[in-house]
Amino acid sequence: MLSKLFKNFKKKDFNLEDFYTTDLHSHLIPAIDDGVKSLDESIAIIKNMKDLGYKKIITTPHIMSHRFPNTKDTIYPGFELVKNELSKQNIDIEFEVAAEYYFDEYFIEKIREKDLLTIGDNYVLFELSYTSTPFGLEQVVFELLQNGYKPILAHPERYTYYSNSLEKYHALKDLGLFFQINLNSLHKFYGAKPKLAAEFLVNNSLVDFVGSDIHAMKYFDSLKSFMQGGKLSEVFEKNQIKNSFI
Ligand SMILES: [Fe+2]
Repeated sequence: MLSKLFKNFKKKDFNLEDFYTTDLHSHLIPAIDDGVKSLDESIAIIKNMKDLGYKKIITTPHIMSHRFPNTKDTIYPGFELVKNELSKQNIDIEFEVAAEYYFDEYFIEKIREKDLLTIGDNYVLFELSYTSTPFGLEQVVFELLQNGYKPILAHPERYTYYSNSLEKYHALKDLGLFFQINLNSLHKFYGAKPKLAAEFLVNNSLVDFVGSDIHAMKYFDSLKSFMQGGKLSEVFEKNQIKNSFI
């Protein structure tokens, strides 16, 4: 049924609902990380996402102690602000909040305290340094799993020490991680190397979740143009994408 649908898929027929309607990676709380800078910007992006077909957005501000030392106390008030404005403007979309944790001491502390902000059924989104191989990743993933969390690695295609040796992705996945790629990586938004790595992950059926990772309107524009290009079907044909089941 699905494959028939993909076969008949035409650019002009694009309908996000045929694929998924929940986005689980974005930076839409104003001025608490490197995402949107104002409430207006946040609302404009969310409105566009709704028009594109999203029904639910779980936004994920950075928690990164050296750059964005966010806590529930900095995240929740901004989240309420956006949520209230959505309801004031009658923009009908589910809006929730979790976080994108950076792999650092604070993250490890929060894992041990079992005090992480989670997505759906205990999923935890986290990211690594783009340039230096993480020390002790295996142990931390083990602790996450042992504490009942389901760890999702954000944009594995963007870490150079993996994208330079693609075969490493299999072992990384085998630690017990879910992989979330940024759809914009497939659109060359981050350059040639992440695009190749994202294609490798897609073609090897290593992708569990797709994300927008929207920080500003230009990310949305790129995402929309990617989707209208008709390439989303390839991702869903080759992978068991779980966005709709979270
Ligand atoms: Fe992000």
